[in-house]
Amino acid sequence: MPTNHPLLSLSQIDTFYGAVQVHFGLNLHVDTGEIVCLLGGNASGKSTTMKVILGLLEPRAGEVWWGQTSWKKTSTPERIRQGLASVPEARRLFGDMTVGENLMMGAYVRPTFLRADRNEVLRDREKILDEFPQLRERFGQLAGTLSGGEQQMVALARALMSRPRLICMDEPTMGLSPLWVEKIWDLVTAINKQGTAFFLVEQNAHLALELAHRGYVLQNGHLVLEGTASDLRNDERIRDAYLGTDQMAGI
Ligand SMILES: Nc1ncnc2c1ncn2[C@@H]1O[C@H](COP(=O)(O)OP(=O)(O)OP(=O)(O)O)[C@@H](O)[C@H]1O
Ligand SMILES: [Mg+2]
Repeated sequence: MPTNHPLLSLSQIDTFYGAVQVHFGLNLHVDTGEIVCLLGGNASGKSTTMKVILGLLEPRAGEVWWGQTSWKKTSTPERIRQGLASVPEARRLFGDMTVGENLMMGAYVRPTFLRADRNEVLRDREKILDEFPQLRERFGQLAGTLSGGEQQMVALARALMSRPRLICMDEPTMGLSPLWVEKIWDLVTAINKQGTAFFLVEQNAHLALELAHRGYVLQNGHLVLEGTASDLRNDERIRDAYLGTDQMAGI
């Protein structure tokens, strides 16, 4: 297999909700070990892109590829088995389960654990808790009682439990204080250094481009810009958006 094939690629994706078209010929890719961000204003189709990658919404045209494998007929659990993980918008933790139990759920894909060896899963959890010492302190606490930042940390740790090659995150900084954004970004950087790729959906271009290697800008379902993070940081259209609210509303 050629090694220059992207880890994930979306090719000519058209997506619809009923008669309403959301994506128009979307092409993007994430290489092994890369951090890629998808920027864009409200309702531009960012979260829908995540749904397409996860297999929660079938595109009407185009294909999602995992390396050289088409995911056209691949279910969400099977995509997770193959190395995809997600940290959805608003985290979606199991609020009435403890932090420790939530982490275990990350190693579980219906109907079984991703790996049969439960001791190995427990060892993974220990390793992850070493990297997230704050979560070790919260191990027995119900996830629903954690702060927003702590919940985001649990969601990221839970995603790691499936030993993913790519983690998708939707608006990971939404509602977090600058201090927590920094903490989450430090964790993403540390995890990425160990070889895991990230696909980040963000409205806040400034924050996303601090972290990402490369980015795409989506506007009403069309990609209007793409490039390295430094190209995008220096692009006038992105800079103009910064001068306002720090959001992508101007794009
Ligand atoms: N389940 C759905 N049924 C019908 N329309 C939908 C559905 N989900 C999203 N849409 C519409 O599709 C468009 C794209 O939505 P999407 O959630 O992908 O945007 P987004 O870029 O993530 O926006 P935001 O920044 O607000 O999160 C919007 O116009 C939205 O109203
Ligand atoms: Mg969204």
